[in-house]
This record gives sequence, C-alpha cells and structure tokens, in this order.
Amino acid sequence: MDTNEPAIDKTRFREACGHYATGVAVVTTSNGNGSAVGVTVNSFTSVSLDPPLVQFSLDRKASVFGTFEQSNPFVINVLARDQEAVSRRFSGKSDDFDGLDCEIWQKDCPMIQGCVATLGCEPYAAYDGGDHLIILGRVAYLDCQPEVDPLLFYRGSYGNFT
Ligand SMILES: Cc1cc2nc3c(=O)[nH]c(=O)nc-3n(C[C@H](O)[C@H](O)[C@H](O)COP(=O)(O)O)c2cc1C
Repeated sequence: MDTNEPAIDKTRFREACGHYATGVAVVTTSNGNGSAVGVTVNSFTSVSLDPPLVQFSLDRKASVFGTFEQSNPFVINVLARDQEAVSRRFSGKSDDFDGLDCEIWQKDCPMIQGCVATLGCEPYAAYDGGDHLIILGRVAYLDCQPEVDPLLFYRGSYGNFT
C-alpha cells in the first residue's frame, strides 16, 4: 500500500458513490416472536444466478442490526414510484408497519404490497464489510410487477423514470 496516497475524504466518498443511481428497497425480517422490523436500503444487488443469491449491506450501528444478525429469513421489498413515504418511514422508524398493506412470509416476515418486486430469502452467508455487514440471502420466493414503475435514488434525492 502506498502510504503517500492522500486519505479518502468521507464526504467526497459518499458524494461519489451517490452518483450511482439505484432503486430503493425495504428489507424486512422478524425475530421469530412476532416482532418485525424493516430498513430502507439502496445497497441491494443480485449476486448469483445458480444458486439464486442476492445481497445488501447493513450499517453495524443500525437499530435493526441485532435482529438481522439473528440470521432469520428476510424479504427484499423493491419499492414502487408511489412508495417514497414507505422508504422514508423505514429509514427513520424500523418497527412501524401501521396502515401498511402486508402479507406475511415465513416466520412473520412482512411482504409489503404494491412493490415492483418481492424476494423472500433464506439466510445464506454474512461477510465483514467494514462498518457494514454484507448479508447474502438465497432466494426462495419471488414475485414481480413489470407494469409498475420503480422508485429511484440518485445523489441523495428520490426520482422516477419519466
Ligand atoms: C435511500 C436510502 C438508502 C439507504 N441504504 C442503506 C443501506 O444500504 N444500508 C444501511 O445500512 N442503511 C441504509 N440507509 C439508512 C437506513 O435506512 C437507516 O436510516 C439507518 O440504518 C438508521 O436507522 P436507525 O435510526 O434505526 O439506526 C438508507 C437510507 C435511505 C434513505
């Protein structure tokens, strides 16, 4: 490693990464005792076709971290363009499912209705990702709605295809 390289400034790093346009997903899970949580992420990505694997990275400081660390099944709810409020809800409060239309998958995992895609995952692996944990899931259920437009996120703002 060249120690003469200048350190990467965190704000600039965040800004540069924010230039990668993404979708937005809410990942939901449950501790198996009926208490479900959800967290908004844009780090979701597909990993492998065979076996069918997806991943997201979770901040170790997130209030939901302990629940996800329990390695229970989880659901990737890929949000539709009219679900910005759902994204905002689960980037602030993790256990507020009040008034949300959900079906339940596996051990009390909420599947949020009206999404563009829904992937039910069995825990597969978890890897160190610095201040985040990289969580891989093996897809065991899927559904998608090609006629529904996705919610997008770019440089800190929400958007959609128009
Ligand atoms: C569009 C968007 C994308 C986000 N992506 C991630 C992510 O990939 N991983 C993550 O740990 N937190 C992500 N967050 C932040 C979390 O949603 C949440 O705000 C953070 O974990 C703090 O939650 P807490 O107050 O319950 O601890 C994202 C937030 C937004 C609005």
